[in-house]
Amino acid sequence: MTNGTDTRGSVMELTDVVREYHVGGQAVRALDGISLALTGGEFASVVGPSGAGKSTLLHLLGALDSPDSGSIRFGGNEIGTLGDEQQSEFRRHQVGFIFQFFNLLPTMSAWENVAIPKLLDGVRMSKAKPEALALLDMVGLGNRTDHRPAELSGGQMQRVAVARA
Ligand SMILES: Nc1ncnc2c1ncn2[C@@H]1O[C@H](COP(=O)(O)OP(=O)(O)OP(=O)(O)O)[C@@H](O)[C@H]1O
Ligand SMILES: [Mg+2]
Repeated sequence: MTNGTDTRGSVMELTDVVREYHVGGQAVRALDGISLALTGGEFASVVGPSGAGKSTLLHLLGALDSPDSGSIRFGGNEIGTLGDEQQSEFRRHQVGFIFQFFNLLPTMSAWENVAIPKLLDGVRMSKAKPEALALLDMVGLGNRTDHRPAELSGGQMQRVAVARA
């Protein structure tokens, strides 16, 4: 929920979503007609055995991938068929990712890592930096803002990723 866009109450709606991978002439139908609705502000867990299609589903929800058929709508807009550039825009403005292995930029400080999505979006440093510092304060890292990822504990790195998301 970045860029001042309030997504609470927005709905992510999937209808008959199919995603099939093709490897060496073999087709794997990772998602076979999934339909579901998620409401902003809701906590949801995706649970299932290894290979069930959880990561495939999350990639689609985050516009990191596109379905072969079916519809994915967010706040009423179709995101399943966006082009590369529009997908990037959607990810920058509407989605936050917290990766299992953090994916922090190693040469940047904690506050720079948090500020980077804003800076990429053209927000001025004079605005992006105080916002990043405030976000780090919210996750209890107000005293680690200048540390690089390698100078933080695992839980602290994860909290930087939470602040960035
Ligand atoms: N890039 C790919 N190319 C071909 N097949 C893939 C690809 N990614 C995933 N698959 C196949 O699609 C199915 C779903 O994979 P996915 O990664 O979504 O599972 P998962 O539920 O996240 O599993 P895990 O719990 O092991 O992470 C699996 O059978 C997998 O082998
Ligand atoms: Mg997975």
